[in-house]
Amino acid sequence: MNNTIKSSALIFILFLAIALKPIDPPKKSEEIDQRVKDLLAKMTLEEKVGQMTQVTLQVVSKVQGTRNQMHQLDDAKLEEAIKKYHVGSILNVYDVAHSIEYWHEIINKIQNIATKETRLGIPVLYGIDAIHGTTYTKGGTLFPQAISMAATWNSDLEKEAGKITAYETRASGIPWNFYPVMDIGRQPLWPRLWETFGEDVYLASQMGNAYIEGAQGNDLSQPDKIATCLKHYVGYSFPINGLDRTPAWISERMLREYFLPTFEAGIKAGSPTIMVNSAEVDGIPGHANYHLLTEILRNELNFKGLVVSDWEDIKRLYTRDKVATSPKEAVKIAVMAGIDMSMVPTDFSFYDYLLELANEGAVPMWRIDEAVGRILKVKMQLGLFENPFPNIELAKHFACKEFTDANLEAARESIVLTKNENNILPLSKNLKVLVTGPTANMLSVLNGGWTITWQGNEETLYPQEKNTLLEAIQNKIGKDNVTYIEGTSFDKDINTKLAVAETKNADAVILCLGEPTYCETPGNIFDLTLNKAQLDLANKIVETGKPVILVMLEGRPRLITEIEPKMNAIVLGFLPGMEGGNAIADVLFGDYNPNGKLPITYPRYPNGITLYDYKPMEDFDGNGYNPLWQFGYGLSYTKFSYSNLKLSSDEIDPSDELTVTVDVKNDGKISGKEVVQLYLTDLYGSVSRPNKQLKGFQKVLLNPGETKTVSFKLNKDHFSFIGQDNKRIVEPGEFKLAVQNLTQTFRLK
Ligand code: BGC
Repeated sequence: MNNTIKSSALIFILFLAIALKPIDPPKKSEEIDQRVKDLLAKMTLEEKVGQMTQVTLQVVSKVQGTRNQMHQLDDAKLEEAIKKYHVGSILNVYDVAHSIEYWHEIINKIQNIATKETRLGIPVLYGIDAIHGTTYTKGGTLFPQAISMAATWNSDLEKEAGKITAYETRASGIPWNFYPVMDIGRQPLWPRLWETFGEDVYLASQMGNAYIEGAQGNDLSQPDKIATCLKHYVGYSFPINGLDRTPAWISERMLREYFLPTFEAGIKAGSPTIMVNSAEVDGIPGHANYHLLTEILRNELNFKGLVVSDWEDIKRLYTRDKVATSPKEAVKIAVMAGIDMSMVPTDFSFYDYLLELANEGAVPMWRIDEAVGRILKVKMQLGLFENPFPNIELAKHFACKEFTDANLEAARESIVLTKNENNILPLSKNLKVLVTGPTANMLSVLNGGWTITWQGNEETLYPQEKNTLLEAIQNKIGKDNVTYIEGTSFDKDINTKLAVAETKNADAVILCLGEPTYCETPGNIFDLTLNKAQLDLANKIVETGKPVILVMLEGRPRLITEIEPKMNAIVLGFLPGMEGGNAIADVLFGDYNPNGKLPITYPRYPNGITLYDYKPMEDFDGNGYNPLWQFGYGLSYTKFSYSNLKLSSDEIDPSDELTVTVDVKNDGKISGKEVVQLYLTDLYGSVSRPNKQLKGFQKVLLNPGETKTVSFKLNKDHFSFIGQDNKRIVEPGEFKLAVQNLTQTFRLK
């Protein structure tokens, strides 16, 4: 290379470096507030109402984009949305993941128009459901779903998942993620159970917060960070009949005890946006609930960020719920209840109605300024005014090996072993196995909904280089040692007879059952019991007398009570993500010692839904708490023993901190991780107190023979509860603390 070329290359690289280096936006809250104020002062009513309008990508597309047809933006529609309607936000894809390059094209086009061709140059806030990784960018690192991440009981892993998802989502040019789900999963039939971190307030808060920390860091404007969105505020996860988007009846006391604290935690962790409950609580639709959206969320929980509606839910106040007598009244009710942005999302009707309402004085200007101010603030916090375009530098590490390794680690820690008769697991790698069942050879069943498509069920679009469970088993012990017969589909016999016949050549059977993928309402079912065809397959295989290892892949605890006693071992995979096949094979053949614990109660009977923190009367006078497996349960290939549970004092003042220590020892022959779980029981209270409540957990790695002392700190927050007057209180009295089989009591003065 001659010197002139060399120096011009250098200049070019320097130029590129300057061009790519993100410009530092103002960071101080007061500076941002002032900028928001200044900008608001320049905006017309139309521009403000536009900011509050969010449309889906479909609205600005020529070709929607399906598995067979490439998506195409419609330039004229895009210009109309941004220049005529001044939309503040666009969301989603039609239904298929795009390549990272194509995302760059889309976002560049949108931001070019928004920032260069409009009067004030306000960037668009693009939002997406990157719920277990960057769902809608091809090749994204797809982690275990929330229910499985919760089964790791390892918030460091969740933080890492947040970090990586933020990196890959922002690398795609998208700065806003509709995640984490802070609803707690206390209704196992609900088809979105797997999107939650399980049934417990404390565990879900810890996992959600870890995600927020990882995804946002301490500065949203960093090039690899995204804004998170807590959803779906509040009570959505507890429909009485278990169907999606149906009523919950939750008294204010129980709402404050069980459903608000996870959101409160997420707000404290700094999430700047919240999405609203699509259904209703106590007869009031989420989108019309002034008490929840303003009195509690703003005035009590002190949430300062932006509240976005869920999909079409403002319209539904009229079309479905009939609390509004017209679509226009629906807009008024929702905005006045406290919603700042409408996920309209398929037209501009919200814009038209809100403009009319504002001009008529039916929605006051202060409310519009308040909402728009919150939206602009998030855009400024994200540094979008300075850096609205995708940072192509980030594409470099998209789905890199380190990310896949972190994903595999998360998947391994998420696997829950619930039965291991006579230590049949781990299996020797010299065995011949028969693999059968509908979840054995599909990637979709490892991932669940919101994977590449909304329903996650387009198996042919999955990355072929990833391993199904069958492929992972074949890699582990050699193809020649594995026979695969499908047996059944999810609900129909295919060749059960052949599977039974093939057992004769096998030393053991790996029976892979569970659920197909689903998401939201299409996932509704009316019976938790596993499909008959799958239970029949299990029963027939058992009759052969061969040892059977059951692997369940599922988004909710499908009942297997009928076959459970007949299985020699049971591995619950839930939805362990794209590396899940490898992770389960590692567990089955002893390359990984399982340490996942249940984040939910696994029911024994369809109507026996009693959760771990049940009230004393639920296990009294003939009532019985008798799940198949308890919350927190999970086996290991080694044995742990506990001793020396000690409290720093047996009597404390409410202002004191109580230190709890316990020794845990690995008594077995291999190293393993154990989740040390601390439970509190308030022995007497003016409101009946739960049997026990999780108040702390730590995952520790122990080598054979090793002992570690684990310590927890508790304060009055841990001892508090919602009293008869719906206020959080702390009552003096006796408490019991338990770690495994050890207990200690103390007195609160
Ligand atoms: C879901 C939300 C999601 C939104 C945008 C809705 O149907 O309830 O969880 O964020 O769609 O895709």
